[in-house]
Amino acid sequence: MEIITSIEQIREISENIRKNGQSLAMVPTMGCLHEGHKSLIDKARKENDKLIVSIFVNPMQFGPDEDYDNYPRDLEADSKLCQNAGVDYIFHPKADEMYPNSFSTYVEPCKQMTDILCGISRPGHFRGVCTVLAKFFSIIRPNRAYFGQKDAQQLAIVKRMVKDLNLNVEITGCPIIREEDGLAKSSRNLYLNEDERKAASILRKSILLGLKEIDAGQKSSQKVLDTIKSNIEKEKLAKIDYVEILDFDTFERVDDIQGNILIALAVYIGKTRLIDNIVI
Ligand code: PAF
Repeated sequence: MEIITSIEQIREISENIRKNGQSLAMVPTMGCLHEGHKSLIDKARKENDKLIVSIFVNPMQFGPDEDYDNYPRDLEADSKLCQNAGVDYIFHPKADEMYPNSFSTYVEPCKQMTDILCGISRPGHFRGVCTVLAKFFSIIRPNRAYFGQKDAQQLAIVKRMVKDLNLNVEITGCPIIREEDGLAKSSRNLYLNEDERKAASILRKSILLGLKEIDAGQKSSQKVLDTIKSNIEKEKLAKIDYVEILDFDTFERVDDIQGNILIALAVYIGKTRLIDNIVI
């Protein structure tokens, strides 16, 4: 496995892979890899001849008050995980390689999909995500790219970008990987102290409570939202950012629960903002 930092070099490597008639996969990440990423890497490894994992903490997707400087970074551990998982190349560019001073072109994602959920408290976040991914897809031109379903909004927005811009890459979503108590694996879980870590299981527990109500025949989104919210509010360390029930295809809020539904939530546990969701 090689770690490549220059755009020119990774472009050349990718081009040679394509010239050899081999399929090329990409798993875009911001590093600090955990079992969630590992599941994407394993799937990509199985389904393709060559695999590039990008590790780039993308400054453009962090707001001014967010955790860009303190975002966890551990290239050594990430390299080990990638090496053991059979990754062929890590692409690890510096910020000024991706965004030189002259950089001034951005990808503006679908407004209807960004004016909700995480897009409200993180303005500009998905613009940053789409811009960096459009650059990766243009440099590497992978046949397939793999994303976690934990970031359901990101996955849906990226799929829409690929469709709207006719990018020649197949986007694959992979299931959420969880800790034993149900907490979705996330690099941000590292910020939690012992009490917060215990409290964080409230996200999944509350979603499951809502699901139980739906299974029992509840059709009113409002009633299910109330159940989920009041359960989260019982946890002293938790503060709700949002809880939403949306049509999974259009991202519109729904009054009645029918068809493909996304239940998504973001909750602060102490200072750490965690997200989770379920598609039913
Ligand atoms: O999900 C992430 O880690 C990031 O948003 C991504 C897709 C790597 C883009 O920077």
